[in-house]
Amino acid sequence: MQKLEGKVAIVTGGASGIGEAAARLFAHHGARVVIADIQDEKGRALAESTPLQRCSYVHCDVSDENEVKAMVDSTVQKYGQLDIMFSNAGVVGNSGQKVLDLDLSQFDRVLRVNARGMAACVKHAARAMVEKRVRGSIICTASIAASRAGPWRTDYVMSKHAVLGLMRSASRQLGEYGIRVNSVSPSAVMTPIMLSAEQETSMKVLKMYGNLTSLKGITLTVKHLADAVLFLASDDSTFVSGHDLVVDGGLLCLPSPNSSL
Ligand SMILES: NC(=O)c1ccc[n+]([C@@H]2O[C@H](COP(=O)([O-])OP(=O)(O)OC[C@H]3O[C@@H](n4cnc5c(N)ncnc54)[C@H](O)[C@@H]3O)[C@@H](O)[C@H]2O)c1
Repeated sequence: MQKLEGKVAIVTGGASGIGEAAARLFAHHGARVVIADIQDEKGRALAESTPLQRCSYVHCDVSDENEVKAMVDSTVQKYGQLDIMFSNAGVVGNSGQKVLDLDLSQFDRVLRVNARGMAACVKHAARAMVEKRVRGSIICTASIAASRAGPWRTDYVMSKHAVLGLMRSASRQLGEYGIRVNSVSPSAVMTPIMLSAEQETSMKVLKMYGNLTSLKGITLTVKHLADAVLFLASDDSTFVSGHDLVVDGGLLCLPSPNSSL
């Protein structure tokens, strides 16, 4: 059954990783998908690839509000409305970023994309939905780093905490228009973002999360995340708003250190 027939979706960070998997799944389920990214060649090639004829590509740096506004407006102009915003674009800094070593230029870059960019996408998607009276679905990519202290990457952890604050506030404020706002929180999945950061830290994160997950014999993939996002985007989650859907194989349910379990 096609779950998104007749719907129009934007996927930011759609040229790669989790966004790419979601764009493919949305298109498979009948949606018209606008892939938005700064990797133009990759994004265009994806939009033109065989199973994705229902997609188009638009260059959009989410940290620039004018570009976000233009992306949303051109989508509405082309397809008539916007039903789904998957605000997923994100970056990590290049260093370990413990508090004592914080490089504030890295900090600004991470916050500008992950927090400011996310806010711009939610704002302009909501504006378009309200204007067209669409009872839409907005999904933000957070992380399990949004609900726990981080041993490293303080800037990233702060930015993902901000995503949950945005998602929860927006869900309260937009409910009166019938707009649902949720987030999805992956643990660790091997995508280019992991490779773009300091390799040693990324490998530590993957290993640590792999060891802590309670589901053994299975590794998190981008398809698992796309499935979770599809649930939040579709009418299967009609009464779900303000929810952070954690996809971590049970990692956050870790017993407290003094537990005998
Ligand atoms: N991979 C993981 O383990 C993991 C875990 C938790 C959360 N996340 C989050 O998932 C989201 C997607 O990451 P991914 O793992 O698919 O990595 P990825 O590197 O495959 O995808 C990120 C995409 O975002 C795009 N992007 C970066 N800056 C942008 C900007 N300013 N404007 C528009 N697009 C921009 C990149 O070009 C890329 O295509 C991110 O928000 C990330 O923080 C990932």
